[in-house]
Amino acid sequence: LFVNTSEASAKEIPENLFGIFFEEINHAGAGGLWAELVSNRGFEAGGPNTPSNIDPWSIIGDDSSLIVSTERSSCFPRNKIVLRMEVLCDNEGTSICPAGGVGIYNPGFWGMTLATTNFKASHVSNWTKMEVLLQAQGTDAKSRLQLTTTRKGVIWFDQVSLMPTDTYKEHGFRSDLFEMLKDLKPGFIRFPGGCFVEGEWLRNAFRWKETVGPWEERPGHFGDVWQYWTDDGLGHFEFLQLAEDLGAAPVWVFNNGISHNDQVDTSNVLPFVQEILDGIEFARGDPQSKWGFLRAAMGHREPFDLKYVAVGNEDCGKKNYVGNYLKFYSAIKKAYPDIKIISNCDGSSKPLDHPADLYDYHIYTGANNMFSSASKFDQVSRNDPKAFVSEYAVNGNDAGKGSLLAALAEAGFVIGLERNCDAVEMASYAPLFVNTNDRNWNPDAIVFDSAQAYGTPSYWMQHFFRESNGATLLSSTLQANSSSSLIASAIVWQNSDNKKYLRIKVVNFGSDNVTLQIFIDGLELNSVPSFGLTKTELTSSNLMDENSFQMPKKVMPVKSSMEDAGGKVDIVLSPHSFTSFDLLM
Ligand code: AHR
Repeated sequence: LFVNTSEASAKEIPENLFGIFFEEINHAGAGGLWAELVSNRGFEAGGPNTPSNIDPWSIIGDDSSLIVSTERSSCFPRNKIVLRMEVLCDNEGTSICPAGGVGIYNPGFWGMTLATTNFKASHVSNWTKMEVLLQAQGTDAKSRLQLTTTRKGVIWFDQVSLMPTDTYKEHGFRSDLFEMLKDLKPGFIRFPGGCFVEGEWLRNAFRWKETVGPWEERPGHFGDVWQYWTDDGLGHFEFLQLAEDLGAAPVWVFNNGISHNDQVDTSNVLPFVQEILDGIEFARGDPQSKWGFLRAAMGHREPFDLKYVAVGNEDCGKKNYVGNYLKFYSAIKKAYPDIKIISNCDGSSKPLDHPADLYDYHIYTGANNMFSSASKFDQVSRNDPKAFVSEYAVNGNDAGKGSLLAALAEAGFVIGLERNCDAVEMASYAPLFVNTNDRNWNPDAIVFDSAQAYGTPSYWMQHFFRESNGATLLSSTLQANSSSSLIASAIVWQNSDNKKYLRIKVVNFGSDNVTLQIFIDGLELNSVPSFGLTKTELTSSNLMDENSFQMPKKVMPVKSSMEDAGGKVDIVLSPHSFTSFDLLM
């Protein structure tokens, strides 16, 4: 491998090249990153009419001790359903209640994990908010929230919440999952979907205005693509807050009047355009503005740093896409000239027929094709618009639920993106999360249930690129017999210790050991420098190895420090491996 450190052949890597894509899929948010433990907290999952679907709430007691029904008598105009519980037994009367009382319980999202931390439970009585701090005395992954009584009478419940107090800055993000995201040092976060943004039908698409304001006033909605209800606690505000907490640039994907099955004509799309202008005002507007005022009232007086928006998801080619897109484009550019607008149309093979700052590119494919797609952007135009590879992953048999093979092929592809960072501005793996109880899509980067989480090899693959945002890409060339199964890149970055490091990353996609000689500016790195060389390797004994709750660390990067051996060392790349070498410059 020949590495050239001259500035003339180097490229500046965009600050936001590697980021993450959050979609409300696989219960990624509801029952996932959003730490709310109660599922269907307002009893609205059946929609606005009664009887509503109270699932997964269940009843403790029988017909002789209580009657449970739903009514439209909430004090919240956007979510009228409440649960009415008429208790027939009474421990102070003749018909004694069963031991433990009667009532209702919520098992959360396939079990609530209560550990020795505090929880804030709140509910509404006589439509007064009531809040109590519960302290768990032990740990149990199959806990549930029970609301029981032994007194006769009628109680109405609405908007029942149970929130751990140890969420990140008390912002509501489940701490272990949040930390896994933070560890990736994402340059941006694209949200909230994906197909989730589009909906099968427009009436079920994500509408930001329904997801802001006090959580108990949000109506929630049924995401009809991934087929589950969300209370929308993780709403427009929380996504922006999440981006800020991660130090990532928010990339808002909005519905452009097009779902999977219906579309708004361009002549009627202006209300949709206004909704999006309002959403940008919510994020960036002055606290005196209508929507900026609401943001400030929600606790964030300063504007959020929203600089990227995407007009729809995978909608290019649909009848009204370009017409609708142009309406959004001109209105947003007029009001916010600095916002970068992302088109769904692929500009890599032919120039776009409409203006855009970035074009979206998605790739889900087999391992060999993913690895050879490393050269996909070698020949594309370096002019604007730049590519946003907002969804990439190996899928199908090569991937299973997250194999080493998939991660290696993706590593090769992502090195290709890094090498083409003058044509590609941003890239993210997809999907990010899966709650193992609702696997709508395989594979995913982070697997969790209510109690635990682990990264798939594709999650760990992304760790190798954590230092790349804003770094300098050096020109590097591989000369090898088996070069078709090798790909490499070299970057220089400044660490928090203010020292400069060189990182070389190499994927060996072949099944043989490869001895690597590294030449830096023509000089062979033929012994380990006295300050050492850190090697990090992602490999495993079997190409299809995966991580699991039983073996969460089976395939993950292993770091080793090669100290000065005083002589020539062979740098050997294991078969089927992804390796990085860090040297102090
Ligand atoms: O990442 C899963 C889905 O794949 C996304 O919702 C969609 O954009 C793509 O088809």
